[in-house]
Amino acid sequence: MLRPKLCIGMSLAPTWLSGEGWRAADSGIDGLFTAELGLDIARRSEAAHLDFVFRPDTSFLMVEPLEQSFGFASLDPTLQMAALVHETSKIGLVTTVSTTFSHPYTIARQIMSLHWMSRGRAGWNMVTALQGNRNFGLTQMPSSEDRYVRAWEFTEVVEKLWRSFPAEALLADRDTGRYADTDLVLPIDHQGPAFEVEGPLNIPEFPGARIPSMQAGGSAVGIDYAARSADMVFGLTPDMESALSMRAQLSERARAHGRAPRDVRFLPGLNLYLGDTRAQAYDVFMATHARVDRAQRIERLQRATGLDLANWPGDGRITGADLAVAGRGGQYAKLLQLIETEGPTLNDLLTRPELLAAIHWQVIGTPDDALHEITRWFESGAIDGFVAVPGGSARSMHLTLEELVPRLARAGLYRKAYLGSTLAAHLDD
Ligand SMILES: Cc1cc2nc3c(=O)[nH]c(=O)nc-3n(C[C@H](O)[C@H](O)[C@H](O)COP(=O)(O)O)c2cc1C
Repeated sequence: MLRPKLCIGMSLAPTWLSGEGWRAADSGIDGLFTAELGLDIARRSEAAHLDFVFRPDTSFLMVEPLEQSFGFASLDPTLQMAALVHETSKIGLVTTVSTTFSHPYTIARQIMSLHWMSRGRAGWNMVTALQGNRNFGLTQMPSSEDRYVRAWEFTEVVEKLWRSFPAEALLADRDTGRYADTDLVLPIDHQGPAFEVEGPLNIPEFPGARIPSMQAGGSAVGIDYAARSADMVFGLTPDMESALSMRAQLSERARAHGRAPRDVRFLPGLNLYLGDTRAQAYDVFMATHARVDRAQRIERLQRATGLDLANWPGDGRITGADLAVAGRGGQYAKLLQLIETEGPTLNDLLTRPELLAAIHWQVIGTPDDALHEITRWFESGAIDGFVAVPGGSARSMHLTLEELVPRLARAGLYRKAYLGSTLAAHLDD
């Protein structure tokens, strides 16, 4: 454990409407593109004293999945955050920016604007993005390495722009009539391979609180990039071993860059299907995945086990000895463990939640189950907190905020009240 308390964010993407979740009568799907949906989540998250609300984002639309669910169709994340500023007063607002498809001047201005409007609560999640190049005039997606080279320059330009009209330059002195000390407002004259930016930025720096950054990416280059400058890393670690490994790599790279490991907070996504009982949570989980048919389930099982299941009898057992892959962790770890320990039949496996598990760390159970699991990961030093990604129904989000987070606070692992009112203050309290 690098810090005494967890850092917790809530995804503003209504993940509980994914799969079949949106089809429930009271799902609220008709409000998906309204400001109210995000407001409700943000108000509830602030009542639970969360560090921040967070919006992942992409710049492309996959059309085929729209037949069954809303996929990645969503509001613009920074505009959505701006709609929250007057309805909340403490919680951090972390928006997502693609460093591959945006321009740093626009982003520096938008995020500093959000920071002013929210009085120091903005944060930015930098993604290098996976798709969407054709929406920005690029016939090919640049390689992961090239995207990170640009991301690094992008970050540098944004930070220089934020300092180009420093808070100290803003005088607003009514007596002398001097509004700003223009000796301090300077061009940045950045000339790099990807950007040429003169500056200064046309909005001053917000005084008193810096703008924390988050990064999402899992390659060695991505980890190094995050360890150099990010305050938070949003990760994809479905099992504790991969989280421990990610935490260790971040610590090693942070030290190499002269930073303290505790300043790079590792926050994996945590997919929470919660119910008052385990049976209830399980039912919600299975109902959410009801349209994943037998053929899709078999295909998934083949991917996980390496087995050819075309002629496998439904009542035939699959045991550890059958597995064509060994010691495979990550997304399939729980499934393979189940095969090793129980040797279930094919038909049985096709109905097990382990088969349908998310790419994120996942808990299907009661708030106490989630409390136990989070405590275990935190105390083992695998995580510094998490980003809650509730699933199945809005009830999972409500139970996360009204039952799970208070339990974490009572266990001494989370704050009972806000001490400050900026994102930077929450991260350090
Ligand atoms: C946990 C996680 C979340 C991500 N979220 C987003 C996102 O919201 N939008 C996006 O365009 N890309 C997202 N990405 C993609 C990354 O920005 C990055 O392009 C990709 O992971 C490749 O970098 P890597 O090789 O370092 O993993 C995410 C990646 C990870 C691991």
